[in-house]
Amino acid sequence: MSSVSKRLLQVPASPIRKLVPLAQAAKKKGVKVYHLNIGDPDIKTPGVMMNVLKDWNINPIGYSQSQGEPVFLESLKKYYHKLGYPFIDISNIQVTSGGSEGISMALFAVCEPGDEVIVFEPFYANYNTYAVVNGVKLVAIRTSIKDGFHLPIKSIIEKKITKKTRAILICNPNNPTGTVYTEEEIATLVTLAKKHNLFLLSDEVYREYAYDGRKQVSLLAYMKQIPKQAIVLDSMSKRYNLCGVRLGAIVSLNSDLMAGVLRIGQGRLSSGIVDQMIAAKLTEVTPAWLRETHDEWEKRRDVLFEGLRKIPGVVITKPEGAFYTIVGLPVDDSEKFCAWLLTDFRDPSTSSGQAETVMVAPAGGFYATKGLGKNEVRIAYVLNTKDLKRCIELLSRALDVYNHR
Ligand SMILES: Cc1ncc(COP(=O)(O)O)c(C=O)c1O
Repeated sequence: MSSVSKRLLQVPASPIRKLVPLAQAAKKKGVKVYHLNIGDPDIKTPGVMMNVLKDWNINPIGYSQSQGEPVFLESLKKYYHKLGYPFIDISNIQVTSGGSEGISMALFAVCEPGDEVIVFEPFYANYNTYAVVNGVKLVAIRTSIKDGFHLPIKSIIEKKITKKTRAILICNPNNPTGTVYTEEEIATLVTLAKKHNLFLLSDEVYREYAYDGRKQVSLLAYMKQIPKQAIVLDSMSKRYNLCGVRLGAIVSLNSDLMAGVLRIGQGRLSSGIVDQMIAAKLTEVTPAWLRETHDEWEKRRDVLFEGLRKIPGVVITKPEGAFYTIVGLPVDDSEKFCAWLLTDFRDPSTSSGQAETVMVAPAGGFYATKGLGKNEVRIAYVLNTKDLKRCIELLSRALDVYNHR
């Protein structure tokens, strides 16, 4: 009898998407569901990028080059130079089909099966998928809401390093916590990578989104100090609101690594050419557009934080970046609460009378340690401020009803 592999069965369902069937069932019954469960923003893609589709005249639509389409690679190079890293050359960039593919490729590139990679929980839940697919064991070090999910001291991290540890993987600014690591935190990780000869992987999908005047500290700034070990993982999805254009990049000065990921790239032929021609316009996206987008996120962050912290029993620290936060709720089981929001809770809209509810992601799937996150949810504040205010109202009412059932 043919049965699927044991490791396939280890791939977890994404906590971000697993309640989608419940949301669809609610919608079928005419309920309006506000989605705060997934980081798929409503902000428009820049016009210069949309125009590529309007003016498209390349026929046939063929493959691109395995490393990346030259015009897109050139745009990425210019982008990194403008950020202040003129040492990044085309040879240091591998285009990937989304940051997702880049992270997975990077894990494959640095680990043997069974090797360990240190992450800080709660962490981006899909790291679990990439780890299982690559036979890698994630070793999670706990961070907590009361410290704003900042990193523990060096000695605590160091204790988790074993003979099998190959890398430390961080996400900065962080999804799901909204934490932006300080210069000191990044420097500590670089010191540990040097001392223990580890790879340091920095997922910087949300690089531009740091608030209250903070500046994200990129691993690119340390790349020359640990040229063989530093790997930056990038994505076009959030910076330019291009989630459906599946593009990201691996950036590294390690020539063996770059040659290897190119070979993987050759095996999967290429990333999409249409996607890359759209994203290549990133050099024409104005600083004003980027600034406005950043400010819109910061405004949404403020609305969410101010609204949620007034709800009795809610625990929240002010998110410092990205567009997510982990929130403690006065419920015994957030998984059940999130499902109940979709199956049972309905609040009539004051204007139309239509029943409404809100979808958020239970936080348990963002932790490796069983039992953690049980009374927390992850919120992606990806809606405009009016809708966000309504979502806060819905959550507040729902908590009241849920706890008085
Ligand atoms: C932290 C983090 N890393 C990677 C990704 C993957 O992004 P992409 O759309 O480029 O695959 C996401 C997407 O939400 C993310 O939040």
